[in-house]
Amino acid sequence: MQRILFVCLGNICRSPLAEAVFTHKVRSLGLSGKFGADSCGTADYHIGSAPDPRTIKNALKNGVAMHHACRQLCPDDFEIFDRIFVMDSSNLRHALRIGPEDRHHKVQLIRTYDPLGAGQDVPDPYYGDERDFQEVFDILDRTIDELIRQEAGLAKS
Ligand code: 4NP
Repeated sequence: MQRILFVCLGNICRSPLAEAVFTHKVRSLGLSGKFGADSCGTADYHIGSAPDPRTIKNALKNGVAMHHACRQLCPDDFEIFDRIFVMDSSNLRHALRIGPEDRHHKVQLIRTYDPLGAGQDVPDPYYGDERDFQEVFDILDRTIDELIRQEAGLAKS
């Protein structure tokens, strides 16, 4: 099983959504036995909290249910997980500070896989409105499609 961790700042908007979208897609492809997913944040602001209600609402509108309690990234994550996908370049800097150097190769910007914006940041929607939450959903939706396609060795649809 490939263990995948999604990381953002607060672990209430982007990374729990990435985890939920990934799990939803993997399940509908019948690949649940191949992948495990979790998410966390580099900050400790919201530990134990449910995802942001605006993220939950937007995800549901797009057919994805979310179940997550916020937690913070820790050094053990770099042993447990095979791949660590961060949402932006600031998360990347923070994650590399938390993880040991010999595990840095596991960490990657998630939009490396985005066919429309490879290597860019997933914008932080926290101070935004409904359009910003939908933009985050659209970015993660197409990026995770491509991620799963490459990781599972699926043919292009
Ligand atoms: P996230 O968004 O990193 O996508 O979960 C944020 C959530 C909370 C805060 C910032 C970004 N905050 O400052 O509390």
